[in-house]
Amino acid sequence: MPDVARQHDGARQPLIEARGLHRWYGSGRSLLARRPPLRAVDGVDLVVYPGEIVGLIGESGCGKSTLGRLLVRLEAPTAGTIAFAGRDITHLRGRRLRALRRQIQVIFQNPFETFDPRYRLRQALYDPLRIHGLPDAERRIAEVMERAGLPVDRYLDRYPRELSGGQLQRAAIARAMLVEPRFVVADEPVSMLDVSVRAEVLNFLLDLRAQRQTAFLFITHDLALARHVCDRIAVMYLGRIVEEGPAELLTSAPRHPYTRALLASVPDPDAGTAASPALRGEPPSPAALGTGCRFAGRCPLASEACRRVEPVLEPAAPGHRVACHFPWEEQRTP
Ligand SMILES: Nc1ncnc2c1ncn2[C@@H]1O[C@H](COP(=O)(O)OP(=O)(O)O)[C@@H](O)[C@H]1O
Ligand code: SF4
Ligand SMILES: [Mg+2]
Repeated sequence: MPDVARQHDGARQPLIEARGLHRWYGSGRSLLARRPPLRAVDGVDLVVYPGEIVGLIGESGCGKSTLGRLLVRLEAPTAGTIAFAGRDITHLRGRRLRALRRQIQVIFQNPFETFDPRYRLRQALYDPLRIHGLPDAERRIAEVMERAGLPVDRYLDRYPRELSGGQLQRAAIARAMLVEPRFVVADEPVSMLDVSVRAEVLNFLLDLRAQRQTAFLFITHDLALARHVCDRIAVMYLGRIVEEGPAELLTSAPRHPYTRALLASVPDPDAGTAASPALRGEPPSPAALGTGCRFAGRCPLASEACRRVEPVLEPAAPGHRVACHFPWEEQRTP
């Protein structure tokens, strides 16, 4: 795994830089609006460096997909900014936004929803090249399909339904990579696939990253998978990032009680977290957040102070940040 993630000395320019990102739903400005907004993303700072794979993990409903959609500009933030390669893209529209689409791609969970069932792969693959006016379509397609293990002479004229889920997800990744993006959001790219084909899809992604230095935001609810694939991991809880750090450090010496609880549910005896408290209960609704720490209702360490004051992300070690008033002290020195 390359070392890009470990270079947080400020010398490298981030590829993606989100600051104070919010996405609230149902927060119309009307004075008559009575219901509180649903705070899907509620103040996220996130940086992804070139060539880095950053894992975004957390339980279902914590805002991972919404954050992913914001970063690829499929959705507009309620507040906050997004910069790509140093340029503010928060409010890009029209031609400039279309041009950005070549640099930033997204891979969704369900490959059968990615492709129009009426068209053969040939058309699905040629379209993005035509839209972005890229030359050498045949060579590009043959090359990326070969890497995907889907040689064009056998697969290009097939319809999506004529491929298995694993093959089709590899085709979806191939299509995203055709335009040579610099940043890809992969939203649970293997969670719908049979366990037996997950490794080949993941290997294809890793292979592309090694070859092209593409950066990824790898969204998953599976911490074990994130540990395997990512350079760095950000843990999200109810719209906020609660812990963030190098994948190895975060999974071997987690500081936030939520991360520890997630790890405790990972069936890995080598993780050294067997004594951690398991995750209890359900998260509250993101439309009914009170004051203080959002995890307090489920946290074994919650105190009165936790219920009063919301913790913010603070450095715990180089490149490692935690939002907790009482991070696990025994992990302070590895
Ligand atoms: N378009 C939308 N309108 C209203 N609520 C939404 C919308 N999209 C997502 N949400 C809500 O935002 C929260 C975060 O959703 P999501 O980003 O899909 O979480 P995750 O990907 O972590 O499962 C959830 O409570 C979800 O119901
Ligand atoms: S701030 Fe308090 S309630 Fe929140 S995670 Fe830390 S110890 Fe638990
Ligand atoms: Mg999701």
